[in-house]
Amino acid sequence: PNYHHQHQSGSTPWRNPLRSQGLSTRRELYERDFPVYKQPVEVGCFSLDSERRFFNDSRQMRYYVEPDRNPNFDLKDGYKDRFVKRDDGEKEKLDNILRWIVANRSKLDSRETTASSRALDVDFVTWRGHLTKLLTTPYETRDSWLLAVTRFRGTLYISEVETEAARRDRENRTERNAEMMYWGYKFEQYTCADDIHSLPDPSGVVNTNEAFCTVVQTRLADHRLLFSGEVDCRDKDPAAPAPPACYVELKTSAEICTPKQRSNLHRFKLLKWWAQSFLPGVPRIVAGFRDHEGVVVSVETFHISKISHLIKNEYNCWKPTVCMNFCSDFLSFVKHVATEDNPSVVYLFSWEPHRDVTFSIHRDSQYSFLPHWFIQEMTS
Ligand code: A3P
Ligand code: MG
Ligand code: MG
Repeated sequence: PNYHHQHQSGSTPWRNPLRSQGLSTRRELYERDFPVYKQPVEVGCFSLDSERRFFNDSRQMRYYVEPDRNPNFDLKDGYKDRFVKRDDGEKEKLDNILRWIVANRSKLDSRETTASSRALDVDFVTWRGHLTKLLTTPYETRDSWLLAVTRFRGTLYISEVETEAARRDRENRTERNAEMMYWGYKFEQYTCADDIHSLPDPSGVVNTNEAFCTVVQTRLADHRLLFSGEVDCRDKDPAAPAPPACYVELKTSAEICTPKQRSNLHRFKLLKWWAQSFLPGVPRIVAGFRDHEGVVVSVETFHISKISHLIKNEYNCWKPTVCMNFCSDFLSFVKHVATEDNPSVVYLFSWEPHRDVTFSIHRDSQYSFLPHWFIQEMTS
């Protein structure tokens, strides 16, 4: 394995967060056969409404309505007067997934007896977005990350902690950047309807509190995973395959005018797009390409299963196997490090570009993230 044993010293190791030699993120170390990744199975879903309230159902599901090939969607429309932005300073951690687990425990309870110390039949619980960051780590050169891990009743919970740099970026966003973040959601409004018989309504309000999330179960090598991710919309044909195969991911990107721009899309953006959709088994991405004025001038569909072929023509490009093997080895590293089963202990894994992954241990700290209501529910 690409990590080294940590040698503990001192009588109260938790007082001085220990640094391990860590886990390497060098690409060459992960160029082996593609690991086993089982077809993800949807085990449930939930919705967050316009006030960010949780519902254990699919009320926020939207339906994809195919646009013209050359649509002329104005993504700037409504930014000033028809936009309700979610407060992204409010950290929800794993709370909505934990609410879903509590509401659906019977579907997940371990086959083992209730006397067993394992409450859920999975090794890891996390957000899809956290796994996406792990998949892209061997190729990331700019953004660092912090992941808090707690072992509780045999399951490892992984919850992201915002880095100082990310907080600074969030608090100092330029007006142009804030507006460009809106564009992606506006594209969703142009292409999604609320039910199978209606059409998109671009005159409405864009409210980024609203979300529909799938909860999937799968296995990566010997790691059983339960994770949730936001889904933009689904195929509106009732005869479409069952979730997650009917889901569609929507993206926007700058218009492509030169071979160099096409190459950059393949080398950088497709890595993130592929990782995000491959994980939950979403088979296709519909991309809207916008001009400098924020007008979508063309749309193109990318099939996830074809992306690995698309990128083979690019020199020195990213490889799906490196992403998956790194993620698998990171999860093994976490299992090896996070051994104390205790909801108030956090193992904080930390990574910066060109460095190894390291960790520190925190007891009853600001990093603890499993809420009391969840601990109580799972202990009874
Ligand atoms: P685009 O993907 O078209 O850029 P998602 O694609 O994951 O469904 O996210 C919807 C939109 O949220 C994005 O649309 C983008 O506008 C915004 N968004 C999501 N993650 C972001 C990030 N890390 N930084 C900036 N904007 C982000
Ligand atoms: Mg989305
Ligand atoms: Mg999207």
